[in-house]
Amino acid sequence: MPQNLLIIGATGLIGKYITKEIIEAKGSVERIVILTSKDTTHNKASEINDLKQSGIEVLVGDITKEEDVKNAYHDIDTVISCVGRNVIAQQIPLIQWASETSVTRFFPSEYGTDIEYSLESASEKPHQQKLKVRRYMSTVTNLECTYLVTGPYSDLYFAEPPFGRFEAGGFNVKEKKCSLLGDGKGRISFTAMADVGRLLVAALQHPAASRNRVLIVNSFTTSPDDILAEFEKQTGTKWEVQYTGLEKLKEIEERAWRNQDPLATALTLRRIWAEGGTLYEKRDNELIGDPPMETMTDQVRQAIERS
Ligand SMILES: NC(=O)c1ccc[n+]([C@@H]2O[C@H](COP(=O)([O-])OP(=O)(O)OC[C@H]3O[C@@H](n4cnc5c(N)ncnc54)[C@H](OP(=O)(O)O)[C@@H]3O)[C@@H](O)[C@H]2O)c1
Repeated sequence: MPQNLLIIGATGLIGKYITKEIIEAKGSVERIVILTSKDTTHNKASEINDLKQSGIEVLVGDITKEEDVKNAYHDIDTVISCVGRNVIAQQIPLIQWASETSVTRFFPSEYGTDIEYSLESASEKPHQQKLKVRRYMSTVTNLECTYLVTGPYSDLYFAEPPFGRFEAGGFNVKEKKCSLLGDGKGRISFTAMADVGRLLVAALQHPAASRNRVLIVNSFTTSPDDILAEFEKQTGTKWEVQYTGLEKLKEIEERAWRNQDPLATALTLRRIWAEGGTLYEKRDNELIGDPPMETMTDQVRQAIERS
């Protein structure tokens, strides 16, 4: 296990889960530092306070300023980036500055769909910034890297549709209705958000196995029809179902990109998942000690509890 960790984006959607698991594994780490923005110290004051209470060092700075970032890198050996989609390319300078300091390993912000799944992946719009980061990282010789590829988060998929748009797929527990993508039978590998944190810690605990590689990991593989069957079982009633077939989904997706609709990215990712773009013959969980993972049943139960 590395000894001096810096997390960037620790209070973000997935950063929170990653940070929580790292704190739980704290016994084996000397220092955990987070670099956060001034805005976040105001907007998420109680969360920041809780992090300080749990022994985390909180540094405030701007991830676009070399001085702030290099100050945060001081004596750090491993950087875990959890920055959001709109600042993915900012990781290029973050990696360059890391290569000029004590940092030896960098986890770029991935935690999602495999951006190099097939030849077609190279032209998918939502992948472009992450692909640029991987290309840059491949030119840096004195830093090791690990890309944690988790596929979609089941917590988000087993929930209301994005932006309330039913055609994009989703599950409405209150109204017992859902919208399924494709023909409902296509299998998708999901990771629960809590498991993303567990898998990241497992990767830290297995540095040789995770060195300079993409780790393809997940919690479980299932199909929209099977998710629906589990919701019906746990709620004890039949649900109203509608399907958005793949052709229809592609049409909506293309229109969304043309109209600069904020749903466009989600539609492309969901189309990739529905096409089987998260399925593999083998996953890498075993390489990093096969940590216990949540099941589809757990995730459906939690979705019902949240509703
Ligand atoms: N698999 C999936 O289903 C799925 C779903 C969502 C996201 N993801 C992936 O997970 C990774 C993290 O995404 P996220 O949704 O967790 O991120 P997020 O919540 O949008 O943002 C994470 C953090 O990025 C930092 N940040 C710094 N500068 C920023 C700026 N100008 N604008 C926005 N954020 C800024 C912020 O930290 P400070 O305020 O502390 O500076 C923020 O809390 C991404 O690679 C994303 O593609 C995957």
